[in-house]
Amino acid sequence: MSVNVIIGAQWGDEGKGKLVDFLSENMNIVARYQGGANAGHTVLIGDKQYILHLVPGGILRPDVTCVIGNGVVFDPVSFFEELDFLAKNNIYVDNRLFISERAHMIFPYHKMLDQAQENALKSNKIGTTGRGIGPSYVDKYTRCGIRVIDLFDSQFLKERLEKVLEHKNKILQDTFKSEPIQFQKLYDQINEYKNKLEAYVTDTSLVLYNGYINGESILLEGAQGCLLDIDFGSYPFVTSSNPTIGGCITGTGLPIKAIDEIIGVMKAYQTRVGSGPFPSEDLSETGDKLRDIGQEFGATTGRPRRCGWLDAISAKYSIRINGFTSIALTKLDVLDKFDQINVCVGYNYKGEKLENFPASLDVLRQCKPVYESFDGWKEAIGSCTEF
Ligand code: IMO
Ligand code: MG
Repeated sequence: MSVNVIIGAQWGDEGKGKLVDFLSENMNIVARYQGGANAGHTVLIGDKQYILHLVPGGILRPDVTCVIGNGVVFDPVSFFEELDFLAKNNIYVDNRLFISERAHMIFPYHKMLDQAQENALKSNKIGTTGRGIGPSYVDKYTRCGIRVIDLFDSQFLKERLEKVLEHKNKILQDTFKSEPIQFQKLYDQINEYKNKLEAYVTDTSLVLYNGYINGESILLEGAQGCLLDIDFGSYPFVTSSNPTIGGCITGTGLPIKAIDEIIGVMKAYQTRVGSGPFPSEDLSETGDKLRDIGQEFGATTGRPRRCGWLDAISAKYSIRINGFTSIALTKLDVLDKFDQINVCVGYNYKGEKLENFPASLDVLRQCKPVYESFDGWKEAIGSCTEF
């Protein structure tokens, strides 16, 4: 009976999926609190691989209740694709999967805008997943979003969608020279989703609160990671939500006092997918070797991940921002074959040694890693059973 949070300590892809699966054996509820189908949480059970984008990892265990919290941006297309995939694998979700009424929807215009904005950035692309995440959060904050609950108020939905679509179509046509979206087609499609979604939609803050006061074990599953956080990450090369600790409160409605353990998931080396500064990025054979052994290819987009040595400066920052009570260090075995293992213990910025993760993109870009080097252990650490 506790409420635990899992947070990525780096630029995402730290192995959160595996940890969620491991811990959810003893959980009653697993909830996502931010992000959307940009996540790619991989779980290997036997030789079967499951990649979950939107549905919490706890779904793979039949007795776990799963929640898609209010802080998530909800894409019905991804959702139903995922349910089909799960059903094909004999995993059923009825009566144990709930979507927040307050979550904001992702519609085709969000994805079109995401991709069009990226294309327009040319060489300054953020390298988004193209899943419409940023544009949906933009609508949420400019107060023209459509929430899950709004699907069930036909009059409101019709008026809002007409208005929003008029505006979006203008941008799509005038700025990006794209085809406009037809109102009636989208409206009909949304009504279809509505009928299929009804059974899952509820006030998930109550589901979680009731679980909490009844002493159930709850796991909050962060997506992305601290360095991709909209406030604390390497802005603007970030995602549009708060994967960091605050996000799990605003994104679920649980009271802050409910949180017991905050587990930071950290890979034994560093990776990044998408653009943006990465001080310990290794563009030599070492980076290639990390990618090959670690199988570092994006679970959502298939892109090769950029690789480098563990960055202790960003790790220290992530620990401070999130207040981790423990760290799950993953993929140590990827380092088994390395003679020397480096850890970045400082940033050299124009001859000055920085010990804190800088806010300035320009400074971060110019930081050169200061390494401490260790002899490799050169044996299979996966067989190690004692500390
Ligand atoms: P998980 O949960 C790694 C990255 C994208 C891009 C930036 C913004 O599997 O760790 P977005 O589509 O969110 O607007 O893209 O964030 N990104 C991730 N990188 N792991 C993820 O999720 C990511 N989700 C988004 O590559 O650089
Ligand atoms: Mg991933």
